[in-house]
Amino acid sequence: MLQQHLAKRVEALKPSAIRELLKHSKMPGVISLGGGIPSPELFDRTGLEMATDKVMKGHFLDAFQYGLSEGFPPLREAISELCRGRGITAGIDNILVTSGSQQSLDLLVRTLVNPGDKVVVERPTYLAALQVLQLSQADIRSVGTDKDGMIVDELEILLQSQSVKMVYIVPTFGNPGGVVLSDARRRKLVELAKQYNFVIIEDDPYGEINFTDQTFKTLYQHAAEAGADGHVIYTSTFSKILAPGLRVGWVVLPDWIRQKAAIVKQATDLHTSAQSQAMAASYLSLNRLADQIGMIREAYRDKCHFLAEQMNRELGEHITFHMPQGGMFLWATFRYDFDTTAWLSRTLEEGVVYVPGEFFYSDNADKRTLRLSYATPTRSELEQAVARLKKALP
Ligand SMILES: Cc1ncc(COP(=O)(O)O)c(C=O)c1O
Repeated sequence: MLQQHLAKRVEALKPSAIRELLKHSKMPGVISLGGGIPSPELFDRTGLEMATDKVMKGHFLDAFQYGLSEGFPPLREAISELCRGRGITAGIDNILVTSGSQQSLDLLVRTLVNPGDKVVVERPTYLAALQVLQLSQADIRSVGTDKDGMIVDELEILLQSQSVKMVYIVPTFGNPGGVVLSDARRRKLVELAKQYNFVIIEDDPYGEINFTDQTFKTLYQHAAEAGADGHVIYTSTFSKILAPGLRVGWVVLPDWIRQKAAIVKQATDLHTSAQSQAMAASYLSLNRLADQIGMIREAYRDKCHFLAEQMNRELGEHITFHMPQGGMFLWATFRYDFDTTAWLSRTLEEGVVYVPGEFFYSDNADKRTLRLSYATPTRSELEQAVARLKKALP
């Protein structure tokens, strides 16, 4: 009876498939290609210890006293510098420190979206972004993707008949697809944002995990060059390049939204953990991040190529995939009609888990798809995982 008191906005919420799956992945002997979890052996333990030491000796009160809702100023300075390296010019007033990109999304959606507002996502898209949007009771529309990311022409057709408030996109090494939005599409997307007056949320947790020598200009930078400043809100995080347990991310807010978003942040949690922010600032001051990213990039590239080789050799006649150029995921599709959600209980018996693709769709799910993360398992585990997947085939 008391359930009748649950708010309308939580009615449609389902438990996260990935969180449920992580329970299985902790069972002894199970190899998980499931969660997008950074490889723990790549954490910079020495650097994090040095950073902790520096905080305790030099910034004790900064770490343990209440702080500003917008974030710890030295960290905002360091983030502004880091953004400059990504082609993003933003002063510290435009940077809001958040408890990870997940909170950035939540804050932005709460600041911008009214129930029924039309929000466009990629098909497939990041699962937890769908959860945030469902909570806001947005009217979620999806646009297809191919090897060059979101099919922006398809978005244009939608814009001709619908009034869209926001587009949420992971343009560089997306989760789950692992693809990069092409430069031409990036240009067109910001042009459309200007023409149809919508906001783009550019979610960029993986841009630095680049296996190539190519650089990919952010949508934020494209917008600045196209006179569409203010249309792109950029968010990123230290989760994948430093440590997810810190829970520190940030959002670059154009002037028109920054005050309101800061008030929403204040209402949510006053501020991101002062201790985590001081740790992140202290770590950045050690100048170890670039080397750390270089190491992560090499390690993931190696694992990605190894997994791809194994998949091609052992499962190539059943499964095809796009070869990632960066990030943490290999997005695969059965060559024939197949239900990867149903298959999971069978692969679990063999001791391997993945994330069924259907959870990454807001509509028109392709049940033949699955997401494999290569970040955490060792080479030998990746080899065994593929052998187990093969064994689990009907
Ligand atoms: C696309 C995307 N956005 C946001 C997040 C959340 O990251 P954070 O740990 O910074 O909250 C993730 C984490 O997997 C992600 O893949």
